[in-house]
Amino acid sequence: MSTDVIVKKAFRRILKLVFGFDHWHTSVLEERPYALDIVKYCNARNTRGSVLEIGCGLADILRKTNYRQKMGFDIDTKVLDCAKFLSFFDGGPKIKFAQFHFPETELKEIVDVLIMVNWIFFFEEDTLRRYIEKYFHENVRAGGAIIVDTLKDPHYPNHHNVKALTTNLPCKISKLGNYTRQREVWAIEKEPFAA
Ligand SMILES: C[S@@+](CC[C@H](N)C(=O)[O-])C[C@H]1O[C@@H](n2cnc3c(N)ncnc32)[C@H](O)[C@@H]1O
Repeated sequence: MSTDVIVKKAFRRILKLVFGFDHWHTSVLEERPYALDIVKYCNARNTRGSVLEIGCGLADILRKTNYRQKMGFDIDTKVLDCAKFLSFFDGGPKIKFAQFHFPETELKEIVDVLIMVNWIFFFEEDTLRRYIEKYFHENVRAGGAIIVDTLKDPHYPNHHNVKALTTNLPCKISKLGNYTRQREVWAIEKEPFAA
């Protein structure tokens, strides 16, 4: 582990004491190759108008994306408070944060990229598929994408298959990569001229 990561993790532990968030969030972006690849994918896209992450945690991914409009939603107000604190010191565009409880909270925003990773394994296929379809049609612009992850590790409650999740969608599926715990990250992409 590099000195930089050790220092960042020590700072996260202090933030955990202050904000009281779950231990998971002491992990930093550099320790999560899937998150680094999502940042790379987002920043390589032609359209970089707006990005929204549901289940954004401390907004490690969002803070590194180079978009004009950024939104971070999460169920947990403790992580949102800390994400706001961290973003305050960040030079980039202001991130709009809000509490959001998937699937109960209505998603009103229309964006270029919608990210939902490292928590969707809590939900069964039916619910997840319905909401991916709804968000794809109602909340993602033509030419945009939804980024999700699937896991096969027995440790996780639901093992999703991206084909099953997108069976009714007129989309292109791109794989961002394979990661530990048999995680795969996918971009569910909408045609540039789709309705
Ligand atoms: C493991 S963290 C991942 C954070 C970020 N997506 C990443 O990969 O860097 C999962 C986050 O999802 C949030 N979360 C879990 N269930 C949720 C739900 N039903 N609706 C919204 N957020 C949720 C948690 O509060 C937590 O901050």
